[in-house]
Amino acid sequence: MPPIANQPIEGALTRNAIFLTLSLHQDDAALSVFRDLCADLPSLVRAVGFRSAEAGLSCVLGLGSGLWDRLGIGLAPAGLHPFREIAGVHRAPATPGDILFHIRAERPDYCFELASQIMRRLGAVATVEDETQGFKFFDNRDLLGFVDGTENPQGVDRAAAVAIGDEDPAFAGGSYVIVQKYLHDLAKWEAMPVESQERVIGRHKLSDIEFPDADKASFAHNVLTNINDAQGNQLQILRDNMPFGSPAHGEFGTYFIGYAREPGRIETMLENMFVGLSPGNYDRILDVSTAVTGGLFFVPAAGLLDRIGAGQALAPPAPAEPEPEPRADGSLGLGSLKQGD
Ligand code: HEM
Repeated sequence: MPPIANQPIEGALTRNAIFLTLSLHQDDAALSVFRDLCADLPSLVRAVGFRSAEAGLSCVLGLGSGLWDRLGIGLAPAGLHPFREIAGVHRAPATPGDILFHIRAERPDYCFELASQIMRRLGAVATVEDETQGFKFFDNRDLLGFVDGTENPQGVDRAAAVAIGDEDPAFAGGSYVIVQKYLHDLAKWEAMPVESQERVIGRHKLSDIEFPDADKASFAHNVLTNINDAQGNQLQILRDNMPFGSPAHGEFGTYFIGYAREPGRIETMLENMFVGLSPGNYDRILDVSTAVTGGLFFVPAAGLLDRIGAGQALAPPAPAEPEPEPRADGSLGLGSLKQGD
């Protein structure tokens, strides 16, 4: 089993979140301010969050591939690359961003205060690409009215879905995250009969009960995003989507955030949604939801974040000791283990 990803990725859904995407200025002074923040982030979270255990404040920091290359770590996580735009039946754009902060708490003031403290440190050396304040909507529903998050992996499956393991040892315990901000055309969605909405999602709206497989449309969201590896094992991700919006401005959205131990599985889901499985059999959520941002980030394990903060390069992992060759007599040539021989 891979180690537990040790930035706080795996927490339960909270009532509030702030998703903050920044681009770091290109000069070395900006890099040094950012490194200092990496070193101080755990103590900043403690200082803001300690005042209320119930608030459950946490923060995950992700790094984009452009910034990674500037940090001079020496090695790069195997799956880190810029978000790849998809131009299918609908379009998933790639938008700028070097740093993602995923701030979560049971209280909006805790998220707000931590975001303020982060911006106090980075405000002069970074450009804000996006700030989205998400909130829990009734019983974990998105603004389309469906419960969102039900099929997230639980228990050991959760860690197995998100934490990099032996496949990339220098980055074990880290993770990848893809974010997209979607804006909904609620008038169009609400004009659809509930039965048609349920076919789009593949679940009943009020009860959240999943349709039997035989009754699901081939384009249902939970058909297109349910994918397997070559051995037939399900490839899972951990989602922490949040509604956001501004009724006064007619803005109603879902902030999609998905963590995985390798980004390919999220990219396959996106391909299925935007291009279709097979092409043209796309996700009808997208007829009423427009993706306006898209980013891919690497989430270093806490120890690596410390090293980044200290400006230390990452030594390549020591090559594995070669297995001793069995000798002709079948022994390993270690001699006898018996005493007195
Ligand atoms: C507008 C954006 C989106 C909305 C409103 C949305 C909503 C939902 C809802 C209501 C469910 C069913 C309940 C659940 O299991 O959580 C669901 C399931 C799921 N969604 Fe999304 N989703 C969105 C975007 C995405 C994207 C971009 C991905 C991946 C790239 C994704 C991956 C999944 C997965 C893996 C499931 C579980 C499928 C299963 O195994 O049953 N979703 N989503």
